[in-house]
Parts: sequence; C-alpha cells; structure tokens
Amino acid sequence: MSLRFKNFSNLKYVGGLSQIKNIKNPIKLSANESALGPSKKAISAFVKNSKKLSRYPDGNSNILTQSISKNFKLNPNNIIIGNGSDEIISLACQLFLKPNDEVIVTEYSFLMYRIYAKIHGGKVISAPEDNFKANIDSILAKVTARTKIVFLANPNNPTGTYLDKNEMLLLRKKLRSNILLVVDDAYFEFVINNDYVSGLNLFKNFSNVLITRSFSKIHGLASLRLGWGYGPKNIISGMKLIKPPFNVNSAAQVAGVEALRDKKWLQKNIDHNRKWADIFFENFVNLGILTNVPVANFFLMHFNNKQITADQVFDKFIKSKIILRKMKAYGLPNSLRVTIGNNSENNLFLKTLNKIFDV
Ligand SMILES: Cc1ncc(COP(=O)(O)O)c(C=O)c1O
Repeated sequence: MSLRFKNFSNLKYVGGLSQIKNIKNPIKLSANESALGPSKKAISAFVKNSKKLSRYPDGNSNILTQSISKNFKLNPNNIIIGNGSDEIISLACQLFLKPNDEVIVTEYSFLMYRIYAKIHGGKVISAPEDNFKANIDSILAKVTARTKIVFLANPNNPTGTYLDKNEMLLLRKKLRSNILLVVDDAYFEFVINNDYVSGLNLFKNFSNVLITRSFSKIHGLASLRLGWGYGPKNIISGMKLIKPPFNVNSAAQVAGVEALRDKKWLQKNIDHNRKWADIFFENFVNLGILTNVPVANFFLMHFNNKQITADQVFDKFIKSKIILRKMKAYGLPNSLRVTIGNNSENNLFLKTLNKIFDV
C-alpha cells in the first residue's frame, strides 16, 4: 500500500526570476524588491548578529515588537511578527478556515492569498476587477454565508492600482461584520497620493480587520524574511498560539529594528521611487504602452494594443540583461511587470524600452 498525502502540486508559487541561463549578473526588475537596498544601519545590525548564531532567536520577537509599537503608536499585544508577511497570511488562513469556507480575492491579486487559502482547506472565489482595479460591488456580490475572509492588497500587486480611503471604509462597512478583511499594506510607504490612507491608519481600532506589513519592499530586507501583522488582540493571540515557536530569525529581528529607525534612508527610498515612477510613466505614455498611474514601486505593462507580444518584449529585455516579470500565472499572458530599480538599471530599462517601441 502506498502512502497517501494531500496533493498541492498545482499550488506552487513561482517568484520573479533571478537568473537567466548564460547571462552573468542580470538586472533583476522582477520581484518588486528595493531599488537601493537596506539601510546601512540594518546591515551592520545583521553583521553584528553573526556572533550569536548558535542561539535560538527570541520566539516573541520582543525588541522588534517594541520598536514597531513605538514607531506606529500601537499596543504590542496587537502585533505579531512573521517570517515575511507571507507567514501572517498563512497564519490567518490557518486560524480562520474550515473546509469549504470561502475566501474572496480580487481578480489579479497577489497569488499567495489563493495558495494559502487552498492549503488551509478554503475555497477561493475571485471577484472581477474594473480595468485592473478592485471593485467593491464586485467583491460584495461574491459574498455568501460561507465567506470567511476577504484579502485586499492596497496598493495591489501586480496591478499597481489602489482603493482610496472612502472606498476602503465603504467596503468594510458593507461587508458582513463576521467576515475578516485582511488589508495588505506591503507597498504603503511608496504611496503619496492624497486620497490614499494605509490599512493600518484606517482600521487601527476595528475588531474584524487584520493588517499585514512587510520589510521586503521599501526596507530592502527581502532575504531575511520579515513582516508583521496588526489586528484585534484575540486574533493576534490566536495566531501566536499556532505560529512556529522560533518563526523569525534573530538577524531579521535586529535588522528590522534598525531599518525602522533609519527614517532618512526611508525618505531617500520614497524620493527615489517617486522621481523614477514619474519618469517611467512619462515614457510609457509617450510610447503608447498601457499601464497603471504611478503608485508603488512597479508598473504593470500591457501589450494588447501593440504588434509585439509580452513574451517577445521579455526576450528583448533579456538581451539587455534585464529580467522582467511574466504575468501568465496571474492570468495576464500579454502583460509584464517591471520594478523600479536603481539609477543605472532604470536608465538601461528606459533605453531598451524606447529601442523596442519607438518606431
Ligand atoms: C502584495 C504583497 N503582499 C505580500 C508580499 C510578500 O511579502 P513578504 O516578503 O513580506 O512575505 C508581497 C511580495 O511580493 C506582495 O506583493
């Protein structure tokens, strides 16, 4: 008799490519990582931590919890630190979902919501978007008696669009109160649009909203796997009970504290991103490439109105050693996503783009 186990073979997440065969030191603009890297202070905390590798990390991530609590004026009991915000998403699914409970995601949403919802026995329901933007009525139309969780990244990856403050409040107001709304703030630092408010600032005192945040994006600590969640104490306590005991390594904890402290570096990243987002957008408009308006540190480019396919554009960029993100897994075979990089990476991206599309 053979061993039997659950089959998750169709749930594998494939991240943005880092390597291309026969290409040395490619430029990776495929995973929405930081353009400028982490704060030097975070790096030196990481290096200093190397003296303590034989010790288990603090399972409660206390110093980082305290630092987040101070920085954002939050009660530490409402905070959970995770091995990437991915882990917070997974824990939320694990805590809430019973077999056949329904989880609503938007049409082109971050794939990990679907993956974790399914791993933990949920049924994923996709709510159509409106021109690549989440639509409240469409989400509400998908609600049934079995709906347990609604996931929404704001801004959303990969579409680069967002719901404004009023839309977010309206969504929560119209959703049944016993449905958990998870607002993923992974890219909130980049957004400077006046009508935008982060999930944390909107829903701090709500009993049915969980916020996730990440150190992988603007803080440049993707490899350390560090994120956190904020929510009502009972939900956070429930998640802490089921999390792995030493889920966050000690290097991530100390680097996270320093990353939060280094406000100058944060601002430099925001300024860099805003400057280049505007330049990218201007180029897209000039070349007739359909995309989102500047919001986060990436753009989703669509090629249906062009003579060339996304795969062909991808290959041409590879010739310039630039790796973009293919969007087939998201159901967008003729689109590509590009992350804003550093100055020289961006100049090469724009030069290549103009060479391809300037006829
Ligand atoms: C919307 C969104 N949420 C969460 C994550 C995952 O972040 P982390 O590295 O903190 O797990 C990503 C990463 O691409 C993302 O785009």
